[in-house]
Amino acid sequence: MTNMQDDLLRYRSQFPILERTNYMISNSLGAMPRAVYDALHAYADVWATRGVRAWEERWWMLALEVGNELGTIINAPKNSVSLHQNVTTCQAVVASCFDFTAQKSKRNKIVYSDMNFPSVMYFWEAQRQYGAQVHMVKTDDGITVPTGRLLDAIDEQTLLVPISHVIFRSSYINDARAVIEKAHKVGAHVILDTFQSVGTVPVDIQALDADFACGGVLKWLCGGPGTAYLYVRPDLGKKLKPNLTGWFAHENSFAFETGPIRYADPPFRFMNGTSHIPSIEAARPGLKIIQEVGVERIREKSKRQTARLIELADQHGWRVNTPRDPEQRGGTVSIDMPESQQVSRELLARDVLVDWRPKAGVRFSPHFYNTDAEVESAIATVVEILKALPVTA
Ligand SMILES: Cc1ncc(COP(=O)(O)O)c(C=O)c1O
Repeated sequence: MTNMQDDLLRYRSQFPILERTNYMISNSLGAMPRAVYDALHAYADVWATRGVRAWEERWWMLALEVGNELGTIINAPKNSVSLHQNVTTCQAVVASCFDFTAQKSKRNKIVYSDMNFPSVMYFWEAQRQYGAQVHMVKTDDGITVPTGRLLDAIDEQTLLVPISHVIFRSSYINDARAVIEKAHKVGAHVILDTFQSVGTVPVDIQALDADFACGGVLKWLCGGPGTAYLYVRPDLGKKLKPNLTGWFAHENSFAFETGPIRYADPPFRFMNGTSHIPSIEAARPGLKIIQEVGVERIREKSKRQTARLIELADQHGWRVNTPRDPEQRGGTVSIDMPESQQVSRELLARDVLVDWRPKAGVRFSPHFYNTDAEVESAIATVVEILKALPVTA
């Protein structure tokens, strides 16, 4: 396909950094939409001119409105998505809905994979002190999650299964449907971390029948740091009572009642303290563009460009730490070429923006705004760098 035929490239002009760099890092921080300048300027104007009235006029309902905008990307029903600062906090809100103490319930086992993002692991490991029995399923190959062993570990004692939809290290797509089905069969709940899928892999949260889903907007959704989302299936949302709570979750926040909380309906029910307004404002332009482009079209292009990256890595004999089957592969290709960490530093110095992760290598993550020529050029730059490196063998 030539760039002339690539309709998605018309969005390039909306992302200033693409004029200056080869931006292959949307798995980490998506490019900033130009409209964020205006969004943050408008935020400052509202604060400067409307002052405290801004809460009533715009800010109080902002998390609900933007949660709904995000919800359309994952086919979430209205008012089922609350916004938070990061995924770790989303996990904590879910954890706070349950009791791990064995006296009350025999169901206190947490099953997760060692391919989860570390922050999520650290959070769940720390819940042992409250009675959680944590069971970690280990990867065999450093790329995939052994679905059979994961399913076997989910049993009648299992309370929660926090797993990544797409693995940050290898871009492997977990079999979320099988995990959710097994969890439901034994009465457990799944918290699907969709950080590395939403925006590049289509996600229909209702079709998956996920109990909870969370992720941030700063990667494939081009929404910047500071905003994460938590989806709670509506039937659960009506009855769960998070004890990580606060006045935004109260049925009548402005009554300033004393004593225990009376919970509002979702999504406010899953919020706690004052919303992070500037980052929510900054997230909006990215969400709008992703909605407009459509994740199906992004996925189609991503499959083509990630296949090309693998083909090029193979041609040079470099190790690929990402599934070769496009149906099992998200938007990133992790390539462990010789001296990969040093190569990633050199790439950054030459304005080819990538990152490097242990047990992964250099992560290349083209998004809808990248040209095929940029994919070729990123790899050609690696070849140049390797030629210039002193031979270490
Ligand atoms: C799958 C996944 N989950 C979670 C995170 C980050 O968690 P948090 O939002 O708590 O920083 C990342 C990367 O930043 C990730 O790739």
